Amino acid sequence: MDERRSWCRDATGAPPGQRRFFEGSGADLELADLLVENAVGWMPVPLGVAAGLVVNGTSYEVPLATEEPSVIAAVSYAASVAARTGGFLAGAGAPVMRAQVFLENPSSEAEALLELHRGALEAQARTLLASMERRGGGLRGLTLGRLSGLEVAVVRIDVDVRDALGANLLNTLAEALAPALEKALGGTKLMAILSNDASLRPAWAEVRLSLEPERSRRIALASAVALADPQRAVTHNKGIMNGITALALATGNDTRALEAAVHSFASASGTYRGLSRWTVEGEQLHGRIEVPLALATVGGSAGVHPTAKMALQLLGGLDSPTLCAVAAALGLAQNFAALNALTGEGIQRGHMALHERRHAWQRKQEEERK
Ligand code: MEV
Repeated sequence: MDERRSWCRDATGAPPGQRRFFEGSGADLELADLLVENAVGWMPVPLGVAAGLVVNGTSYEVPLATEEPSVIAAVSYAASVAARTGGFLAGAGAPVMRAQVFLENPSSEAEALLELHRGALEAQARTLLASMERRGGGLRGLTLGRLSGLEVAVVRIDVDVRDALGANLLNTLAEALAPALEKALGGTKLMAILSNDASLRPAWAEVRLSLEPERSRRIALASAVALADPQRAVTHNKGIMNGITALALATGNDTRALEAAVHSFASASGTYRGLSRWTVEGEQLHGRIEVPLALATVGGSAGVHPTAKMALQLLGGLDSPTLCAVAAALGLAQNFAALNALTGEGIQRGHMALHERRHAWQRKQEEERK
């Protein structure tokens, strides 16, 4: 451990006086070892704050962990434009996640058998979910489907996970319930695992902006392009996720699960499409986004990582649906800023100013090393 610790310190490359935040944020090897295996250090990403994102009348300071220049500036700009017309309206559904138990060669009467044994199976699930049931969450559904072309049935167990991501809870539940499901429905468990599909918990946001008419028209057309051209849609959605993923990372959420769910939703029609839609309505530009989001505010690394805890405090101690609503508004804000720049002066001018700052810093470092 000591050898790894000194490697970690040296790898920061910064003189001691400049390492205070990194070390003081608890980013030590004990903590790294708690989070992952064979930890040798940290890969810090800058954490910034986009100020003044007004959502449902509340102004949020949004923590964003990202290595990409312009992301935080873009949200801050969009937030200031939106604040002039009251900010964003946003919401999110109940935090219901799904576990799946796949049974190979189930009984041909599995559907009827599920109804016969439903009471006992649900009672067992509720016992396994006792602490979540006490917190107002718990079992929300037990359904059966069959996979076409395969001798496999899927039992879907829907659970309200309250403010947690619930991954461990759902995986434990699915594995623990599997023997009873095998007995009741026939067949053999192939696998039992949560689904990262978050379409049971859609979040949405909308905004009305007062802009110069030609600017609105061009932004609306650019959003129509992302609905018509899948290649553009990928970049359009990447911009939306610049904000949402950065918030997820800052708050200790699972960014891979989040991205998988969002991109699956974007292709739900059979064609990959942009997640937002901007239209000119009267004198205003109306923007709307719908996106499935599973963001937790308790448990997982959010409960352990000191920076994630600090980020959640900065947001004011939100529950999970409120964090999802803020994230949806953030995605729409990011998207507005990107389309506004792209259909206006382009994005390179702002980017190049930041690149120039980096190059100047690199040149200074090189000179100091000489
Ligand atoms: C860059 O990270 C994000 C953009 O490409 C998004 C977009 O094109 O909409 C600017």
